[in-house]
Amino acid sequence: MVLDLPKFGVTEVTKNMTDDQRTIRRDYDLGELRRANLELDPKVQFSHWINRAIEEALIDATAMTLATANAAGRPSVRIVLLKHFDERGFAWYTSYHSQKGRELAENPNASLLFHWRELERQVRISGTVTRLSQGDSKAYFESRPRESQYSAAASDQSFVIANRAALEAKVDALLRQGGAPLAMPEHWGGYLLQPSEYEFWQGRTGRLHDRFIYRKTATGWHIDRLQP
Ligand SMILES: Cc1cc2nc3c(=O)[nH]c(=O)nc-3n(C[C@H](O)[C@H](O)[C@H](O)COP(=O)(O)O)c2cc1C
Repeated sequence: MVLDLPKFGVTEVTKNMTDDQRTIRRDYDLGELRRANLELDPKVQFSHWINRAIEEALIDATAMTLATANAAGRPSVRIVLLKHFDERGFAWYTSYHSQKGRELAENPNASLLFHWRELERQVRISGTVTRLSQGDSKAYFESRPRESQYSAAASDQSFVIANRAALEAKVDALLRQGGAPLAMPEHWGGYLLQPSEYEFWQGRTGRLHDRFIYRKTATGWHIDRLQP
């Protein structure tokens, strides 16, 4: 498969949008997804696709949009980085006090979306979320660069702060405490989404895309093709 990156520059896109937004249109013709080629285990299918994105050196190949919702069902989304996935689920790290953390405390249902534009692929994964163990979170926290550890400890993620100087002063205050390795903050750690559904999307010409959904059953995974 040859990668054929869109050749729009920012100026051309902007010009097209003001002229006629509908002219920004491209066909999806890099690949196809056939039932016969699907893995029976969606985690294995996912691993083929994410490995491909990593091999192609796509920027932020492990970035995923995480959708959560509060108890009233009001949704919110943001990007986080997938740090590992295995039979237990898909893991990322963040602040438990953040907006996403507060929403997950009220409502454990969430959805992840990977979009590898250059491969004309997206994967949607939905399920329920639990916290990773403190031990797992600590192991990851301690593997992070020192700077990231200080930022995580200094930031009350998603809460208002007066200005950048106030934020930097919080980091400086921690740095002044000097030398010793920073302990993982209580409010920081990992989450794990356990999938009950995966959907794989491969763009095709004329918008007749390939979509397959895997739904978890008592004995394994049931696969259906979806209309585009
Ligand atoms: C490429 C990219 C990667 C990111 N990775 C993370 C991450 O792994 N963990 C995290 O807490 N925020 C990450 N962020 C920031 C989040 O998108 C978001 O701003 C932050 O987590 C606060 O979200 P919330 O207020 O909805 O909780 C990332 C943002 C981008 C653009």
